Amino acid sequence: MIGPSWAQLCGIALLLLNVPSAAHALDIKVDDRGSSIEEPPEKETDLLMVIWLDSVIKAGKDVAAPMMKFYHQNVSVTGIPGKLDETWYVAASMFMTWIQFASASNVDTYDDVVSHDLMFQAGDDYNYFDSNYSKDIGNDDQMFWGLATITASETGFKEVKGKPSWTSLARAVFNMMADRWDGECGGGSRWQIWQIKNGFNLKNSISNGGFFALAARLGLFTKNETYADWANKIWDWSQDSPLVNNHTWYVCDSTNTADGCKGGDRTQWSYNYGSYILGAAFMYKHTKGDDIWLKRVNGLLDTTFKTFYPKKYGGNIVSDVNCEPVNHCNRNELCFKGYLSMWLASTAILVPSTHDRILPKLQGSLEAIAKICSGESDDLCGMRWYEDHWDGMKGMEVQMAALGGITGRLMLMGDVKGPKNIDTNPGGKEEAIDTDGNSSKDISSRRITTGDKAGAWIFGVLTMALAVGGAVWLLWAA
Ligand SMILES: *[C@@H]1O[C@H](CO)[C@@H](O)[C@H](O)[C@H]1NC(C)=O
Ligand SMILES: *[C@@H]1O[C@H](CO)[C@@H](O)[C@H](O)[C@H]1NC(C)=O
Ligand SMILES: *[C@@H]1O[C@H](CO)[C@@H](O)[C@H](O)[C@H]1NC(C)=O
Ligand SMILES: *[C@@H]1O[C@H](CO)[C@@H](O)[C@H](O)[C@H]1NC(C)=O
Ligand SMILES: *[C@@H]1O[C@H](CO)[C@@H](O)[C@H](O)[C@H]1NC(C)=O
Repeated sequence: MIGPSWAQLCGIALLLLNVPSAAHALDIKVDDRGSSIEEPPEKETDLLMVIWLDSVIKAGKDVAAPMMKFYHQNVSVTGIPGKLDETWYVAASMFMTWIQFASASNVDTYDDVVSHDLMFQAGDDYNYFDSNYSKDIGNDDQMFWGLATITASETGFKEVKGKPSWTSLARAVFNMMADRWDGECGGGSRWQIWQIKNGFNLKNSISNGGFFALAARLGLFTKNETYADWANKIWDWSQDSPLVNNHTWYVCDSTNTADGCKGGDRTQWSYNYGSYILGAAFMYKHTKGDDIWLKRVNGLLDTTFKTFYPKKYGGNIVSDVNCEPVNHCNRNELCFKGYLSMWLASTAILVPSTHDRILPKLQGSLEAIAKICSGESDDLCGMRWYEDHWDGMKGMEVQMAALGGITGRLMLMGDVKGPKNIDTNPGGKEEAIDTDGNSSKDISSRRITTGDKAGAWIFGVLTMALAVGGAVWLLWAA
């Protein structure tokens, strides 16, 4: 072996000069031992765990910064806090993702803006059915705001003074969805709320699975049996319908009332599976380990792993296989695997026997995210986590999905926190909100605060790390 050539020395010099065009990636140090659900590490002495935790938390902050930048850009089009350009519910799922990350990391950078905007969109009637949107939305749209607010209750996200508790808002969504449950096909939530809308005829999995999860979560949090009764009812209807097959554990996307809900749309989406797994995991906990719920969780996990963690990418990296390979994921679909990741983490916590099956999937996905979030100068994440590098896709949605993937792994590290309930978060009491009336309460408006731009220095650090790595590689290659 001879010494490095001129070109190689130039390469090293350029890398060390922190050239902005140099690709970089998130610097994550954790392996699949980084989990402590059975044996919590002794935090003071377990240096490795501290390093692991730090690196994963920092990765979360790195992808959240551009997520919030995109969010503010998008919201500035409408000028309304929490209202993105051309979509309404996606903001709810972003808030849900942030709140779950904030709880797992103890980072509070965007808590204020998320809290403000999440409350603002509840509208004057505190039911996420503001007349600005209510004529256009489907059950699943309102449902996501319910999931965001119950996530706030479970994580002890700070309540807003003088406003209803997060639990009360989640309960309002629940009650409105329960009111809209109808008898056609023996029950079920429709996709669309209004008859004139395309999709009114459909009863779809995310509306029902999401409603099921919301009910199960409200049940565990409040200990109010009404919710668990509903969770049972929604599950039972779903397995009677083509949506959930309790032999093959296959989940359809929707079924059509026009043909008596005989057939199902067999398009496969990860969040449909995730929503039913999540609800079943909460019911397992609620029933103190009922075997039937364990069977359901495990059955759905089998098909989820088989379908969305393709063997050809190693079997541990999640992919929405219906749209990613053909490069055709829309704004909604880009987000699904982030939700699935967090919901699987919750499942591993609530149903400990699933932990060892779930952990490698979250670990594999985290390692993938570390590589693909290397876009431009801003840790932009791509759509396909199984690629070796950023695939060019950018926006709030892919950042959110990556944050969900990072959060899922983080939720199983360090001091694992299960969801709080009314005993451990007494501020999250449920109160009645009139979901029929039109009470108009004043919501003080507030300017949107711009996200902090603290992430900038991290780029330098990452590039430096890569430069050193790159130099070593170049020398080795020579
Ligand atoms: C808003 O977000 C969508 C989806 O990421 C994107 O297509 C659109 O360009 C964004 N608009 C602005 C003004 O940032
Ligand atoms: C509804 O739209 C009006 C007019 O654009 C706006 O002032 C208000 O803040 C919006 N409310 C919500 C909850 O989006
Ligand atoms: C239980 O929840 C239901 C649905 O929100 C509500 O009508 C009922 O009042 C609740 N019960 C208690 C004791 O809070
Ligand atoms: C599967 O669903 C059918 C129809 O609802 C039900 O009769 C049966 O008990 C279910 N089996 C399991 C294991 O849940
Ligand atoms: C609420 O407001 C709508 C629209 O203004 C009206 O049609 C409806 O009757 C009102 N509902 C109640 C219970 O006052």
